[in-house]
Amino acid sequence: MNHLLFSRVKKQKYWLLILLGWLFLITEVQAAAGHAGIAAAHPLATEAGIAVLNQGGNAFDAAVTVAAVLAVVEPYSSGMGGGGFWMLHRAKDGMEVMLDGRERAPLGAHRDLYLDKQGEVIPGLSVNGPLSAGIPGQPAALAHLAKMYGRLTLSQSLAPAIRIAREGFPVDEHYQRMARWRLEQLKRWPDGQRVFLVEGEVPALGYLVKQLDLADTLAAIAARGHDGFYQGAVAERLVQGVRQAGGIWTMEDLDSYQVMERKPIRGEYRGMKITSAAPPSSGGIVLVSMLNQLAQFELESLSAVQKKHLVIEVMRRAYRDRAEYLGDPDFVSIPVKRLIDPEYAAGLTRSIQLDSATPSRQQPKTQISEGQDTTHYSIIDAEGNRVSATLSINYPFGSCFVAPGTGVLLNDEMDDFSARPGTPNVYGLVGGEANAIKPGKRMLSSMTPTFVENEAGIAVLGTPGGSRIISMLLHAVLALSEGEAPEEWVSRPRYHHQYLPDTVQHEADALTQEEQQQLIALGHSLKRLENSYGNMQALKLDIKSGEVTGASDPRGLGKTVVQ
Ligand code: GLY
Repeated sequence: MNHLLFSRVKKQKYWLLILLGWLFLITEVQAAAGHAGIAAAHPLATEAGIAVLNQGGNAFDAAVTVAAVLAVVEPYSSGMGGGGFWMLHRAKDGMEVMLDGRERAPLGAHRDLYLDKQGEVIPGLSVNGPLSAGIPGQPAALAHLAKMYGRLTLSQSLAPAIRIAREGFPVDEHYQRMARWRLEQLKRWPDGQRVFLVEGEVPALGYLVKQLDLADTLAAIAARGHDGFYQGAVAERLVQGVRQAGGIWTMEDLDSYQVMERKPIRGEYRGMKITSAAPPSSGGIVLVSMLNQLAQFELESLSAVQKKHLVIEVMRRAYRDRAEYLGDPDFVSIPVKRLIDPEYAAGLTRSIQLDSATPSRQQPKTQISEGQDTTHYSIIDAEGNRVSATLSINYPFGSCFVAPGTGVLLNDEMDDFSARPGTPNVYGLVGGEANAIKPGKRMLSSMTPTFVENEAGIAVLGTPGGSRIISMLLHAVLALSEGEAPEEWVSRPRYHHQYLPDTVQHEADALTQEEQQQLIALGHSLKRLENSYGNMQALKLDIKSGEVTGASDPRGLGKTVVQ
C-alpha cells in the first residue's frame, strides 16, 4: 500500500497556501463585496431576506423570512409541512448551535409501517400520500429562531411570505420540471392539484401560483407563534385531513413536537475549522470523517486520477459508517467521538489501495433519484451573525398531499428511515437498526449546513441533493482548501460514492475520458448522470476587512446579494 502520511512541515506550507488563496480571493472579488449577504435558492427569497436586514432585522430574522419565502416559492423543495437544520453563529458571544427542526415519526408509527404481510417494502407508501409524512418541524424552528435570536416580531419576518402566498409567484422552468415529475401524485389529492396544477396539468410559464390557505396558516403562525401551527384550528385541520386520507397523525403528535438545540459536529482540516450538522443529520460526521481520512495523505503528490480515486475511497468508508451507526441521537447511542476522531480515520484509510478500488459488500438493487429536492440558504449580517440552513420536504413536492384548508404541502420524509434494514430508499441509501422507524423518532438526514473558517476567512455554505449533499460539501471544502473563490466552491464538477450501490455517480464533466478509463481499470464502476446535481449557496466573510462575497450554484436559479 502506498500510504503517504501528511507531515507537520507540510501542514505549515498548506497554511501559507490557504492564506495566499484567501488574500488573492479578496482582491479578485472586491467589486462584489459587501458587509452582509444572502445566498438562497430563489431570487424572491434572497430579496425578501435582504429587505428584512434593511428594516433592522438581524441574520436570524432574515433566516425566518428566507425559509418562509422558500416555503412559498419552492413548494417542491421545502415548506411549512417539512423540516430542516439551522446552523447559527451569534457574533456577540460566539455561541454556535444547530436548531434541529427535523420531522419526527408520528406516535402511531412502527418499525414495519411500510411492509406487507410477507415483510416486503410496499412500493411508494413511504414516498407518496399522507402516510409518508413525518410531523413537520419547520414552523416550530422558525418560531424558536424568532423568539430566541431575532430582533423583529414573527409578524414582521413572515410578512413577505404571506404577501407572496396571497399575490402569487410566477412559474418558471424548474417548477415545471418538478411538477411534471410528480404530476401523477399531485393529481391524486384535490387541494394540491388545485394549487399547484391548472386543470390537472403543469401550469404555463409565468402562471401565478397563489396559495391563499397557506397565507392564512402563515398568518396564524405570525399571530400565535408555535401554537398557531401545532394547536388550534390549523392543527385540527391538519390532523383531520391526514386521517381522512389514510394517514395516522394525532393532535398529540403536533402538540408534543419540539425543536431541539444540538451541539454542532466539529472537525479540522489543514488548519481550517469545520462546524457542521449534528445527528439526526449524518452530514457533519460523514464530512469530518472524509476530511480526516484525506488529511492522512499528501494530496499534492498524487496525480489527478489518483486523487479522485482516493476521494471516492474515503467517501465509501464514511458512508459505510453512516449506514451502520447513524440515527436519531435521542433514540440510539452513536459513537460520535470515535467516528470523528482522526485516529479512527487513520484506521479506516489503512485498507485504501492507491492501485485498486475496495469493493463494497453486496449490491442491493436500487433506483437512485436524480432529484433537485431540498433547499439551502446562507446568511451573514453586518454584525457577523451567520446562518447556514438546509431545509427539506424530501422528494419533489414531498408527499404531494396538502391537508385541506391549510395550504400545507406535507413532506415524505418518512422515506429517510430504513423501511427495512438493508433495503435502499429513494436515494439508494441503506440503513441499519439505528435508523429503523420508532414512534416519535427523527429520521436520519444528509442535510449538511456548514461553517468553515481559518484565521483569514469564514465560509457559510450548504446544498440540497439527497444522499449526495455530503459529498458535495466535501468537494466545496477541498476547493476552499486550495484557495478557490466561492464561485468555484459552488460550481466545481461533482462525483459521488455512497458505499452502496458500489458505483461512482458523476456529472458529465467531472471525469475526463482518460480518468474514466483509469478509474474503471482500478475497479470502479461508473455511472454518468443525465443531469447535473446540487444547488449550493455559499458566502465568504473576510475577517480582516469584514467584507462578504458569495455565489449561488450555476446549476440552479438561486441568487446571491451582498451589500
Ligand atoms: N430528505 C433529505 C435528507 O434529509 O437528507
